[in-house]
Amino acid sequence: MKIFVTRNIPEKGIRMLEEQYEVEINPYNRVLTKTEILKGVKGKDGLLCLLTDHIDKDLITAEPRLKMIANYAVGYNNIDVQTATIQGIPVSNTPDVLTDTTAEMAWALVFAVSRRLIEGDTFTRSGKFDGWAPMLLLGQDISRKTLGVIGAGRIGTAFALKSKGFDMNVLYVDEKRNKDLERHLHAKNVSLEQCLQESDVISVHVPLNSKTHHLIGEKELKMMKKTALFINTSRGPVVDEDALIHALQNKWIYGAGLDVYEHEPSIPIKLLRLENVVLQPHTASATTETRTNMAIMAAENMIAGLNGGIPPNCVNPEVFKKAI
Ligand code: DGY
Repeated sequence: MKIFVTRNIPEKGIRMLEEQYEVEINPYNRVLTKTEILKGVKGKDGLLCLLTDHIDKDLITAEPRLKMIANYAVGYNNIDVQTATIQGIPVSNTPDVLTDTTAEMAWALVFAVSRRLIEGDTFTRSGKFDGWAPMLLLGQDISRKTLGVIGAGRIGTAFALKSKGFDMNVLYVDEKRNKDLERHLHAKNVSLEQCLQESDVISVHVPLNSKTHHLIGEKELKMMKKTALFINTSRGPVVDEDALIHALQNKWIYGAGLDVYEHEPSIPIKLLRLENVVLQPHTASATTETRTNMAIMAAENMIAGLNGGIPPNCVNPEVFKKAI
């Protein structure tokens, strides 16, 4: 069988695939165009793709041999799963292996914003540091403050649990009660409104779908405290980026830490110019260990799917129910 990989991923995953299949990999170090992916997928049984590839109906239905789509990401909003399901094609993702890594990035952003780390680094490197000063780069404390977690799934839970050392009062927003957070942190399940109004640090951990698109907009930003820190490591379109820029420009909130953008990789110049925001290039899962584990997981899913089994991380298991 033949596989198309839309961009090179850590070698361990590629080797696992090469042991069983003929593997073609995007030869360029860039995102492929739709036409290039269409060409790549021609005659292939499996497609291993990234969150930067829009795997739409045209792509899914283009190659009758296509039997498996393995996404190299936990989020799979880039794939038209509904069409894949209709076509009987299993789709898989890479959960769990990146949970702590992503939660760690959210914390890195909390401290980068609260303690103005990027400003401090730039200040020091530029030779401006001329000695300790009582009013230099004053930031905000985190310990014993209120943490608001929007979305208490795997990553949101890991992020909240890591607050234990900071003795925070934890609020979370989720349709489901989270026993772990309630038991370990005495966290309270609250409405979005209460979370936004009472939290000092607000971090978003929801998947992107029709319900979460622009979950945070002008109205929600206006509900936050003037001293609030806003962190987003989920997906850019969960936040109305224009409204966030407006909020940061007008100091409705203290600052933001962002790893994702509404129209990434494009970032509005107005956002790039702001000092009260720390920006990362969608690298929340970018550690050597995690990216390797994601590659292994994507390969395991591909192998299971192509060998007729149920991929361990299948996001549309109804494909198999239909067959029974
Ligand atoms: C994911 O896996 O969805 C992450 O955004 C990748 O960094």
